[in-house]
Amino acid sequence: MPKLIIDNIEVVSPEGTTVLEAARSIGITIPHFCWHPALGKAGACRVCAVKLLEGPVKGIQMSCMLPVQEGMVVSTDDPEAMELRRLVIEWLMINHPHDCPVCDEGGECQLQDFTIAGGHGIRRYSGSKRTHLNQDLGSFIEHEMNRCIQCYRCVRFYQEYAGGGDFGVMGSAGRVYYGRFKDGQPESLFSGNLVDICPTGVFTDKTARFRARYWDYDMASSICTICSLGCNTTPMARYHELLKVTARHNEAVNGWFICDKGRFGDLGVNAPDRPRLPLVEGREVGWDEALETLLRRLGEIEELYGTGSLALVGSSANSLESGILLAELATAVSAAALCYFVDENEAAVTLAAVSLLETAVSASMPDVEQADCVVILESDLREEGPMMLLAVRQAWKQGAPVFLVGKAATLEQATAVGIEVIALGFIEEVPLGIFANPVIICGTKNSSVSDIAILALAEAKLAFLFKGANSYGTAVLSREQAGISFQKAISTGKIKGVIAVEADIPAELLAQMPFVAALDWRVTDPVRSARIILPTTSIVEMDGTFINFEGRGQRFNRVMTPGLPLKDGLEPGGHPSRAHSRLVPGGDVRPAWQVMAELVRLSGGELIREPLSGRWRGLATLDADGSGVKVSPP
Ligand code: FES
Repeated sequence: MPKLIIDNIEVVSPEGTTVLEAARSIGITIPHFCWHPALGKAGACRVCAVKLLEGPVKGIQMSCMLPVQEGMVVSTDDPEAMELRRLVIEWLMINHPHDCPVCDEGGECQLQDFTIAGGHGIRRYSGSKRTHLNQDLGSFIEHEMNRCIQCYRCVRFYQEYAGGGDFGVMGSAGRVYYGRFKDGQPESLFSGNLVDICPTGVFTDKTARFRARYWDYDMASSICTICSLGCNTTPMARYHELLKVTARHNEAVNGWFICDKGRFGDLGVNAPDRPRLPLVEGREVGWDEALETLLRRLGEIEELYGTGSLALVGSSANSLESGILLAELATAVSAAALCYFVDENEAAVTLAAVSLLETAVSASMPDVEQADCVVILESDLREEGPMMLLAVRQAWKQGAPVFLVGKAATLEQATAVGIEVIALGFIEEVPLGIFANPVIICGTKNSSVSDIAILALAEAKLAFLFKGANSYGTAVLSREQAGISFQKAISTGKIKGVIAVEADIPAELLAQMPFVAALDWRVTDPVRSARIILPTTSIVEMDGTFINFEGRGQRFNRVMTPGLPLKDGLEPGGHPSRAHSRLVPGGDVRPAWQVMAELVRLSGGELIREPLSGRWRGLATLDADGSGVKVSPP
């Protein structure tokens, strides 16, 4: 590996590394706009100039284009290099509107940072500026072309990385324009990444426009809950309102990007009608009264219908902590049925797939990107895990053939990311044996237990796409705690009372239940049917743990304190309440696992302060900013 010196620091970098990357590896940031870790180099912006003092190359060079060589001596702060960078930035800024004070990117703008850092503070150019007409790019992305510095990142991501065909670069010379042929929402499932990848304010998140500056946000490291992939995110909130979600880099999971569902999907966190106070028969009560009433009602149910009449129902979207407490509570209140899943097929298929993953080799998204053959089996990845489709495209770009097998494996998903595929009827027809590193991606929504069993014989890495953010962890708990599905539990006809913990139980199943209680933060069918409602925190209002599709445990941190969004509690005249209170209105909600821990204590058990004990202990101290850890089989 070549050894070189950058700013008097010796660096050894792998062959093929650029000088810019080598500098980053030792904590030296060379200004850059067109270079991006996921997209590589383009040599378009000319702002990454450094001076090579000694060695095989000499003089001013663009560090993003220059591979490291033995004996190079590089200076990033040589006066000549710095002066060139200053002039390039001044030139890039000639047509820029210099509108930082009113630009929504202000404070999180790479152009702003490098411009100021490079010493360009006064505009000398007094001619008229080139201006563009902007496009209406739909509900989520704002377009402001006048801020563009022609770095080509957007089009390189959209077309090359994500395979989109409805967005591109048009014009020439000084009239280069990035946009669509006509107004309208970009078609790519990953268009929101334009917001993150643009180093200036050409593409900004319309959903949060002018609601806060970067330094105003409450933000923390979190996990997307839209599917089971576990993509890392940074949600941003202000005044108890979730305003936007951005991608968070995790090389072991989602790389630099997330899908539009995860970025723009409305989870209901800000819903003004979500449960925010404990309710008993529609009456607002304190937490103590609600919890005691619930336990008393459970006793009455048992007296009326006999033992074995209560079911506790969780979900694959519950945090691992909630799942653990569900079993503790079931024991404490002698519930007859502990249900981690509502649907029998979801339970059976998820358990079968997780058991198989404990012995087979599971594939992460980076594994899929590196595969030399990819099989998409009975799944439309646009539905079950969009970011997996982006990983499949990266493998295809490297030459891996992509096979679609089964009715659910639609051709439209291939069109969505611009890849060619081979459609086959059966998995046995795929010539897996001729490949060194094949991966099979199997959806569980349209698969059966026998479909999963066949894969035990396949000589390939396996990736199963599940329904919930914590399906893997839920399946492990369900197996360990002998859980059964709610569908199966009620088929006996004995269940007369249900406690639904953030569980989506259909209204028709609840209609048979004389008593329903719900722990939830959403307005769901169980909440609508519940006699007792205990309001819980959403994912952005709590710390917790999920285990993703490949068995990787990941922590997420609390982004914001719970409470009614300030804008929903304004007094007439638009002023926030002047009444002084220590309590945030609507903020007295608790993580579901803590509510269950309190119920366990009130039932005579120990108060559980840390659910992640025993085999889960290692996850309790996991850094949410790390890569996560694979959960090992028991
Ligand atoms: Fe090197 Fe743009 S980052 S030319």
